[in-house]
Amino acid sequence: MLNSAACIYFLALFALPIIIVSAKIGCKDQNNNDVDWYVGYKMPQINDNSIPGIGEGAAFYYMDVNMDSFVPSSNDLFGNQQAIAYTLQQYYDNKALKSDFSYVLYNDEEAVNDNDNDEDEARKILYGHTKGVVFFGKSGGFWLIHSLPKFPSPDAYVFATNAKKNGQSILCITFEYDELTKIGTQLYYNHPPIYASNLAPSMESENPDLAKVLSKQYKISSPFSSTLNLQSRGGQKFISFAKTANFSLDLYNSLVAPTLQVPLYVETWRQNSSNTIPLDCKAKYLVLDAITMKVGKTTEFKHTKDHSKLVISTNPNKPFICIGDINRMQSQYKRGGGAVCIELKKLWDNYWPMFLTHNSC
Ligand SMILES: *[C@@H]1O[C@H](CO)[C@@H](O)[C@H](O)[C@H]1NC(C)=O
Ligand SMILES: *[C@@H]1O[C@H](CO)[C@@H](O)[C@H](O)[C@H]1NC(C)=O
Repeated sequence: MLNSAACIYFLALFALPIIIVSAKIGCKDQNNNDVDWYVGYKMPQINDNSIPGIGEGAAFYYMDVNMDSFVPSSNDLFGNQQAIAYTLQQYYDNKALKSDFSYVLYNDEEAVNDNDNDEDEARKILYGHTKGVVFFGKSGGFWLIHSLPKFPSPDAYVFATNAKKNGQSILCITFEYDELTKIGTQLYYNHPPIYASNLAPSMESENPDLAKVLSKQYKISSPFSSTLNLQSRGGQKFISFAKTANFSLDLYNSLVAPTLQVPLYVETWRQNSSNTIPLDCKAKYLVLDAITMKVGKTTEFKHTKDHSKLVISTNPNKPFICIGDINRMQSQYKRGGGAVCIELKKLWDNYWPMFLTHNSC
């Protein structure tokens, strides 16, 4: 009796705090449960009532490691009852604990101090065209790669009104702590514009490239690109591509397609026709651009309504999907940026029907 009472006392005093401290950071699913990875397709603003929030430009389709198909989210991005907000909440809850957690919030259209004036535009092009959130404790963390302008806020979850109009992509991956060093390397190549960051002192020596990134250094010398294999906590393999501004070529033509050895369709922001990339019709692995997209039961839309940076292999036997940073425009030759790819047939099967039409040689 005394023993069990002592045991309970011990548990209450010591075990509970230990459990809280070691709670593992990672992606959270639509029910706020741990999930190894998920993808989202934020829909452009379309008035067809097909899914909740679509008329407001805040609707998204969601799929994760435990699902076989994209499902419209019953809660839109304005509220915080959905995977992206649940995932980011770990950063908001813990960002003040600067000796326990490291984070990088970066966006070429920063959530703060971006007034869209000429001065801001001139400053922005010196940096990579890249958007994301890295948040890690020693027990692991997540990398949220996305294309949402002026998102997320460094202070509290709020959906960015700038992100309403166009289609956008989201990829969240849960990692053990050891993978942070490689993510730091990719950011060192990409030269992201950072608007909130911290590197816990106990993580500095193990993450030298991340330490450089946070002291405003970036990769200048050759090589001008880095391709690294990443593995999620659950064992899913990903390939991360990063280029520096000195790469001076299209990421997809010159790095992603030749490395994966597959032809690609690429959906990116290509507004200015005098700035688009001429098709390289003699390439061993042809890269073409999406013209129209259709997601789920929602009305189809043109690439001019889509700001997602989404790539699909055209070979079902090499079922790659990539989500990334940079557009297929000549203006992006001289920008850092990258993409993260996953080879997974069930994901490919869901994305393939979305690419309705594309240009051709
Ligand atoms: C990288 O590009 C910049 C700007 O074009 C140029 O000044 C610099 O010499 C290049 N660096 C290398 C190592 O090629
Ligand atoms: C379109 O691209 C061309 C070529 O790079 C550039 O000169 C022009 O300023 C761009 N126009 C707009 C509206 O961005």
